Amino acid sequence: MRFFLDTANLEELKIGASWGILDGCTTNPSLIAKEGVKFEDRVRQITEIVDGDISAEVLATDAKGMLEEGRKLAAIHKNIVVKVPLTKDGIQACSAFSKEGIRVNVTLCFSPGQAILAAKAGAYVVSPFVGRVDDSGWDGMQLIRDICLIYKNYAFKTQVLAASLRTVNHVIECGKAGAHIGTMPFKVMEGLFSHPLTDRGLEQFLKDYNKAFSK
Ligand code: E4P
Repeated sequence: MRFFLDTANLEELKIGASWGILDGCTTNPSLIAKEGVKFEDRVRQITEIVDGDISAEVLATDAKGMLEEGRKLAAIHKNIVVKVPLTKDGIQACSAFSKEGIRVNVTLCFSPGQAILAAKAGAYVVSPFVGRVDDSGWDGMQLIRDICLIYKNYAFKTQVLAASLRTVNHVIECGKAGAHIGTMPFKVMEGLFSHPLTDRGLEQFLKDYNKAFSK
């Protein structure tokens, strides 16, 4: 299972990269806006920190505009994955990109039917939003299970990038469902390290050792 950070914050990305378990990064227009920096500049800066896939989302909503923007983004660095929304224009652009060899992340996926469209259009990854489905009163994790099953049935090459993960348990459940990638906020990735028994155990080990050898 690959781990991505869902952030455009450079400090968070530097820390994640220093842990040696960071496989990539996803951004979206809201995350970039939060940083208050120019989009392409920030994408370039991220390529210098993250050694792995970096999703950069187009702002155009028509296929022609998406293709123009996406080609420019893809030219920034070999690790850029062009992110397009799961609309008719997005799927059209995805088909064209995949024929050109440009990798696409089809985002804003909320149903298994939409995920099938992304796979048929040759998407490199599809992003189903677990947390937002939960927020709307449905079962986000079931969405991940359904997509993993359908992709397996047809040996689709598109990978499932579980997005909008809000808790450590979301990450674990996605792993059990077979999602290829989980993208998560920094806090969730940091939370994966934590267990009170680890802290207590380490404290005890050091206490015992120091007691025996400090004299
Ligand atoms: C995915 O690529 C999105 O950036 C993200 O996971 C959305 O998460 P949110 O629902 O917490 O905003």
